[in-house]
Amino acid sequence: NTEKKLDVICLGAAVVDIPLRPVSRDIFDIESYPVDRIAMSVGGDAMNEATIISRLGFKTGIIACIGDDAAGQFILRSCEKDNIDVEGIKIDPTIDTSMNIGLVTDDGERTFVTNRNGSLWKENIEHVDFEKMKQAKILSLASIFNCPLLDGKTLVKIFKEAKAAGMTITADMIKPRLGETLDDIREALSYVDYFFPNFDEACLMTGETEESKVADKLFECGVKNVIMKIGKRGCYIRNAAGAMIVPACKGVTAIDTIGAGDNFASGFISALLQGKDIRDCGIYANCTAAISVQYVGATTGVRNKEMVEEMLEKYKKDYIL
Ligand code: ADP
Ligand code: NA
Repeated sequence: NTEKKLDVICLGAAVVDIPLRPVSRDIFDIESYPVDRIAMSVGGDAMNEATIISRLGFKTGIIACIGDDAAGQFILRSCEKDNIDVEGIKIDPTIDTSMNIGLVTDDGERTFVTNRNGSLWKENIEHVDFEKMKQAKILSLASIFNCPLLDGKTLVKIFKEAKAAGMTITADMIKPRLGETLDDIREALSYVDYFFPNFDEACLMTGETEESKVADKLFECGVKNVIMKIGKRGCYIRNAAGAMIVPACKGVTAIDTIGAGDNFASGFISALLQGKDIRDCGIYANCTAAISVQYVGATTGVRNKEMVEEMLEKYKKDYIL
């Protein structure tokens, strides 16, 4: 086999987030509304995942599209800082890089203002550099339904290419934006080796409400390993060998769970690359996510591999492994 240049390529959204907090519901009654801070940060699930996987020590690239604008440059600079390969990022001068303005109240209520013509909505198969993709061992699709033009049929095309190149395929998902159903992605899922939905999303997709039935239904689509995130309980794993729950880290006070799923996937993928078995991958994923929920922001918590290793030591003691 030819030596792969990259460990992982993350395909999906790279965007800029601008959180505004705290704001109140009467924001329009006030002429000039002061908040504590206004600053850009990078976001988008492919961007978040690539950032964390790179920090955990693996050669990581991104496939995404951005505009020829300041927000796009900001994303490229962030990639450079985190040592992420950007050859797969396509600059498309006809679109604006997606920017999400998040309004957050004091009691945690939030809403987003998004650009319905931004890069996230316009990203399509024309932006996917297949040669770049094939340089990696693992293709991480983050996330199904996030970029609506990367629909089920398109994903089948992409996944077929990835499989022909011997790649392992992982995928996360978000809630459908355009009313897509399980039938729309059923064929695409049959190519997925590790699928990371959270329980609520998986319930919506399958129409089931019982953990085991939800996971069974996804497994029946041909997913090799269903890795369902179940919040502070950890993850539920279903594959040909059966089902198990891998409990979450104990004693964690979550202050911001945004990006927890992305960190979970990043931890899992990093553990796969270390050659760990599936249960240990679940543990490593839980440890990575547990760090992230203790910090505000998706990529603020996990700075390096040592932090996860430390959490892993605590996990082993807590569960007497
Ligand atoms: P998503 O962010 O996709 O909605 P979850 O909310 O299920 O996913 O969280 C992802 C992962 O984060 C969980 O599988 C778990 O490992 C970890 N996690 C979330 N909340 C907690 C918590 N309170 N304590 C420990 N781990 C947590
Ligand atoms: Na998620």
